[in-house]
Amino acid sequence: MRICVVGGTGNISTSFVTRLLALGHEVTCFNRGQSGPPPEGAAVITGDRADRPAFERTLQAQRFDAAIDMFCFNREEAESSIRAFRGVGHFIQCSTVCTYGVQYDWLPATEDHPLRPTWAYGRNKVEADRAFMRAYYEEGFPVTIIKPSTTYGPKIAPRQIAWEDRSWIDRIRKGKPVVVCGDGKALHHFLHVDDAALCFAPIVGRTHTIGQTYNMVRRGFTTWEDYHRTAMQVLGREVELVGIPLADLVAMNSPGFETCRDYLAHNQIYSAEKLFRDVPEFQPVVSLADGLARVIEAMDREGRIPNSDDITWEDRMIAAQRSVRHSALS
Ligand SMILES: NC(=O)c1ccc[n+]([C@@H]2O[C@H](COP(=O)([O-])OP(=O)(O)OC[C@H]3O[C@@H](n4cnc5c(N)ncnc54)[C@H](OP(=O)(O)O)[C@@H]3O)[C@@H](O)[C@H]2O)c1
Repeated sequence: MRICVVGGTGNISTSFVTRLLALGHEVTCFNRGQSGPPPEGAAVITGDRADRPAFERTLQAQRFDAAIDMFCFNREEAESSIRAFRGVGHFIQCSTVCTYGVQYDWLPATEDHPLRPTWAYGRNKVEADRAFMRAYYEEGFPVTIIKPSTTYGPKIAPRQIAWEDRSWIDRIRKGKPVVVCGDGKALHHFLHVDDAALCFAPIVGRTHTIGQTYNMVRRGFTTWEDYHRTAMQVLGREVELVGIPLADLVAMNSPGFETCRDYLAHNQIYSAEKLFRDVPEFQPVVSLADGLARVIEAMDREGRIPNSDDITWEDRMIAAQRSVRHSALS
């Protein structure tokens, strides 16, 4: 099949483009050319989807059997993709489990769970997904919606507290204590990008998935505490985990902390049984320890692990927390 991927060179998409090529598909990646070259064998169209008329004109001029949109975050972008890819046989929208929010009526959350997104990212994805489903019902636009939870890989390592700060890896190496949110017992799924490729590649062309929404997580879950302990095993050093209440993390108002409420403090577990049923190739195999080892190895090779000595919030927060405890006990 001729498949267009909007993206194709980032965290999740690099892996599934490689897999699509291995399955014998012709793949064209549409992106700005800022995230590196695509996997060998993929073609590239350089462009910015923010320029909607050019994006739509360029893609309408091509003939694709299927498309995967990795970079569609709101209703306007969804409507633009619908115009750009009108006529494809199958279209896959990458959404997110953040569409569900943090207040659950049942767990694990299934695809029919009410949507109560708590922040703009989730709300806008809901609007995008609704635009696609409207186009499906009104004009037969052949969309399938995939909702990943945390999906990590060599390009984006899993987080600790701040959205983008990966200095926790260096802290563990140096034996420094590491902050977790609350008691670290909130449940979470971690999926490696190579396992995500086992969903995104084989689903293309599966017409029975059209008009459907699928959560994409591995079976089982872990706590944030166990996630850190697994990282310690991989790094070969045990350090103290210091629990800091969510309210204090949020009050600190450091960049990236605002998302703690949505990711770190609540059980976030989802059912992917529907995906396992409809895409049997989706059988995740990468353990968290193995996945973290691969990510850390890639980051070391590329010198992308920040020096924790240059980042001071964590030491300050731990010192403040200890002094509160000390005065309360004395
Ligand atoms: N990773 C997770 O944990 C997770 C969880 C839930 C949902 N998601 C969803 O997954 C998607 C992103 O996955 P990812 O972070 O792994 O990234 P990805 O799709 O693998 O990479 C992002 C791609 O988009 C391209 N891109 C960025 N801005 C663009 C623009 N204006 N026009 C055209 N192309 C553009 C980038 O290339 P250039 O920079 O060269 O343009 C890159 O190829 C999002 O839809 C997100 O909501 C991710």
